[in-house]
Amino acid sequence: TELKLFAPASIANLNCGFDVIGVCLQAIGDEMIFRKVAEKGLRITKITGATLPFEIDKNVAGVAAQAVLDEVGEPDFGIEIEIHKKIRAGSGIGSSSASASGAAFGINALLGYPLSKKELLNAAMKGEAIASGCEHADNVAPCMLGNFTLIRGYGPLDVVEIQAPNELFAVVLHPQIELKTADARAVLEPNISLKSAITQWGNVGGLVAGLCTQDYALIGRSLQDVVIEPLRKGLIPFFDELKSAALHSGALGAGISGAGPSVFALCKGISQAEKTAFAMSQAYLETGIAFDIHISAI
Ligand code: HSE
Repeated sequence: TELKLFAPASIANLNCGFDVIGVCLQAIGDEMIFRKVAEKGLRITKITGATLPFEIDKNVAGVAAQAVLDEVGEPDFGIEIEIHKKIRAGSGIGSSSASASGAAFGINALLGYPLSKKELLNAAMKGEAIASGCEHADNVAPCMLGNFTLIRGYGPLDVVEIQAPNELFAVVLHPQIELKTADARAVLEPNISLKSAITQWGNVGGLVAGLCTQDYALIGRSLQDVVIEPLRKGLIPFFDELKSAALHSGALGAGISGAGPSVFALCKGISQAEKTAFAMSQAYLETGIAFDIHISAI
């Protein structure tokens, strides 16, 4: 038996929702193949698109896959995994989460779906943790479940799925620099002021309400970040120029995708997304820094 799957990219944080909100990108993702074989054991047999370790305990997908097997028991057959990376590591659109979630889902599928998608999140988070140094779920949850997800709580994990409004599109510009999540977390402050907290949780509530009621203007007003963006934007060359180009072109909102360096914009309608992608490309062309840009349905 062979199973081929698409492991989608995702945008974490969405400005106000640091470590709790994420969204799945339908058009960007990796391909993974899972094969049942006679020789017992779990093996990664092929990796394309990135230089990654083949050892199960050092590979994000390997760790997540093994975590599923630890949970449900070793099968009486072997499993081979092929990983075909399309999402670049350190780009800020959940590359490691796609590998971790894809591996957990693929193994579970080969075993006949003993675990639910929500149960698989714990295994996926174990894989994610070896890449980012901490078990956060704001990329693995949307990657596994689709749509927007809110991590209501971590202890125990309580994930709320939020249906994306029909006309929402994401534009993602990826400057060709690598920014490690651990480095982007190192610049953060452990404490925030009450004033900032009030602004931030007002926006989180506004964003969730806007998504649930398909109120695009409310979504746009809520896509703000007074806590993380000011500390991280210095790590992304020409972030302010890029963000203002997106907003001037008519995007609902824009900000740092996950830990960066990718910058995202959310738009209402595909033609607005194309307009915003053009404006962001124009702004970044002037910087001389190489980049790639994607438009994705949500
Ligand atoms: N919420 C995480 C962060 C996502 O911003 O650090 C990146 O992995």
